[in-house]
Amino acid sequence: MHAVVMRAFGPAENAEFVALPDPVPGPGEVVVRTRAAGVNYPDLLVVEGRYQHKPPLPFTPGKELAGEVLAVGEGVTAPAPGDRVMVQVEYGAFAEQVVARPEQCFLLPDAVPFDDAAAMGLVYQTAWFALRDRAGFRPGETVLVNGATGGVGLATIQLVKAFGGIALAGVTTPSKAQAALDAGADHVIDLSVDNLRDGLRAQVQAVTDGNGAEICIDMLGGDPFDAAMRALAWCGRMVVVGFAAGRIPEIKANYLLVKNIAVAGLQWSDYRDRTPALMAEAQAEIFRLYQEGRLKPAVMARLPLARMAEALALIRDRKVVGKIVLEA
Ligand SMILES: NC(=O)c1ccc[n+]([C@@H]2O[C@H](COP(=O)([O-])OP(=O)(O)OC[C@H]3O[C@@H](n4cnc5c(N)ncnc54)[C@H](OP(=O)(O)O)[C@@H]3O)[C@@H](O)[C@H]2O)c1
Repeated sequence: MHAVVMRAFGPAENAEFVALPDPVPGPGEVVVRTRAAGVNYPDLLVVEGRYQHKPPLPFTPGKELAGEVLAVGEGVTAPAPGDRVMVQVEYGAFAEQVVARPEQCFLLPDAVPFDDAAAMGLVYQTAWFALRDRAGFRPGETVLVNGATGGVGLATIQLVKAFGGIALAGVTTPSKAQAALDAGADHVIDLSVDNLRDGLRAQVQAVTDGNGAEICIDMLGGDPFDAAMRALAWCGRMVVVGFAAGRIPEIKANYLLVKNIAVAGLQWSDYRDRTPALMAEAQAEIFRLYQEGRLKPAVMARLPLARMAEALALIRDRKVVGKIVLEA
């Protein structure tokens, strides 16, 4: 089998696509034949050595894939060889065959094709836990999504709508706003305006009868985060998901007190590793909503596995709207 291999942290262009021995499942392990692998912003951070968990060198990047179970090791009762699964791993997904543990595998309903499945793990799970677990979303609430045109942002908009909320798409590049509207956003909030500090709040208040947003799911940090804090409603909840805009913001505690605001952090991989049963519940709901036609991953490009570097360059250069899938 072939796999993408990084021999050192650095530019994705240094990745090699090499032949490796086919993996054999050990006790409690599963080997999956990859058909499609989802590319995510954190893959770029891992490859460049900027992620919180650094794999030992050399390593194969990639956090999610979909394919068929080839073989299972001793003690594995499910999944079984031939089953179609989506798989979440810490790294190693950009390979034609991948070793995983059973709890990292999610059975695919027949109606879910491999490419959509590979694009419906990490970003939808992140959005699901941000809304349901960290923000305590309730139907009817208004959610400002900062970084709305990215993978997590579009998934968040779709879930807000599927859960019965109002989605405000905070976009940093207005020419990409249509993607957020296509995902179901009720209103676009322009994060590229001059004087964002006042401008963001004015835009949010204009579409919420002056109330502000009950929740902000923030993928950006930096100035958009600071401005969004001022656009929250009374008892608003802010969920910190990422810092794509570059600066890690600081929060003044008196501001939380004055407006009864709660701030929560979200680390998706902790839910994957610590609460696999809850993760399975989340993924089952995501697949159910997909089958009902209420979720649809925005796959903007499909590339062969060997061209991972091009996919990561599109993310690095901010040319992505939605998801890229690598096909194996
Ligand atoms: N905490 C977690 O568990 C978790 C899980 C998944 C992702 N994340 C984080 O969430 C963030 C978004 O992930 P994603 O998968 O949605 O990424 P993505 O698909 O690449 O989208 C990035 C989004 O951020 C916007 N953005 C604004 N300023 C940017 C800048 N200076 N550089 C790059 N993007 C910028 C992009 O808009 P433009 O169109 O303006 O470029 C786009 O909407 C990342 O920071 C990622 O690490 C965290």
